[in-house]
Amino acid sequence: MDKIIINGGKKLKGEVKISGSKNSALPILFASLLTDEPVTITNVPSLADINTTIAFLNFIGKPAVKKGATLKALASGKYKHIAPYDLVRKMRASVLIMGPLLGRLNKVDVSLPGGCAIGARPIDIHLEAFKKLGTEIEVEEGYVKTSCKNGLQGADIKFRFPSVGATENLMLAAVLAKGTTKIINAAREPEIEDLAEFLNKMGAKVSGAGSKTITIEGVDKLYGCSHKVIPDRIEAATYLIAAAITKGEILIKDADPKHLKIVIEKLQKAGLLIKTTESTIYAKWVKDLKPHDISTEVYPGFPTDIQAQWMALMCLLKGKACVKENVFENRFLHVAELQRLGADLTVDGRMVDIKGVEKLSGAPVMVSDLRAGAALVLAGLAAKGKTTVSRIYHLDRGYELLEKKLKKLGADIKRVR
Ligand code: UD1
Repeated sequence: MDKIIINGGKKLKGEVKISGSKNSALPILFASLLTDEPVTITNVPSLADINTTIAFLNFIGKPAVKKGATLKALASGKYKHIAPYDLVRKMRASVLIMGPLLGRLNKVDVSLPGGCAIGARPIDIHLEAFKKLGTEIEVEEGYVKTSCKNGLQGADIKFRFPSVGATENLMLAAVLAKGTTKIINAAREPEIEDLAEFLNKMGAKVSGAGSKTITIEGVDKLYGCSHKVIPDRIEAATYLIAAAITKGEILIKDADPKHLKIVIEKLQKAGLLIKTTESTIYAKWVKDLKPHDISTEVYPGFPTDIQAQWMALMCLLKGKACVKENVFENRFLHVAELQRLGADLTVDGRMVDIKGVEKLSGAPVMVSDLRAGAALVLAGLAAKGKTTVSRIYHLDRGYELLEKKLKKLGADIKRVR
């Protein structure tokens, strides 16, 4: 298995281009199933999760090919209605196959995704929503079997929690339902707005995305279109923290600072110099940074996907900080690994107390999930000596060309087999 080896202590300096958003591209790729016409999607990152989704589309019967950052989903004929374990187990976002296939075929059998390292991650909100649209659901032999004999019927659906995936899945189903669907307490993440824009380009009638209530008027048919995926805000935030933790200076290009308001504000409060334009973020370390508490929340709150990276930064600042995780119940798997590098961290339920240390020392560490991996790489960049990061297949799920981009910024980093 590949590993990343970092010799820490180099200040990162230079420019980095942000890739298209993984979390936006995934639902948009699944949305291409809603039409038999060809669809062109640009700014699609090259990542393991994207390859899994392409394999999924091809398996279901929507031929898809990716060249560089452009994905073409071609004209399609008949679809299969089964999503087997082998494809679903690789990626939780596979459950997004349900919405489009319910809309197109009125039935779909999906292998249960199971839990993952960062928590149980059930799909009850998705399933409750499909029920309200008139779907019957059975769980049999590890599969969720769904069918709606009379077709999907629009309904008002109030989520108990604004789940990102459930909002997307319901949008994907409701665009082809009869009548109007209202999602109340919907997720408001930028990726939801991007999906709505894509669906509307296909001929859907989605309004309110980005607010707490999304209204979807069902249509009979959707059509081919072209769309550019928004920049990856989590990747951009990771490079911002890379500038802070290495006391460096980075110009982040092809980003959207509007999507990172709270992270930018927190870093500025900590003392990092940040300047933004419409599509760039310039960050420079000019003085010792001060620790700040964060508490993860749904958008526009502090993203849970940047909690681990924030913690890595706090480990090296003089003073104390507290990190509270409100979105996932078990997202502190990076704590033990950061401790291996010398961090002073105490877990108390959903909180971690951090006492800044003067230095971290390189050590072998193991990645448990995507963002934990990013935190360990950041810590390794700042640590004294050699950090060997193993199980980096998690990182390959979400960071395009990670070590190449970091190397270009001056990091001493390499991938070994
Ligand atoms: C998406 C993102 C992920 C991010 C998360 C929260 C993608 C591909 N992934 O994941 O990077 O960390 O949003 O911003 O876009 N929950 C339930 N029942 C459900 C659904 C969710 O209890 O039916 C719970 C989950 O266990 C979790 C919380 O709700 O504790 C948030 O999950 P959700 O917003 O659905 O995240 P994902 O869509 O899986």
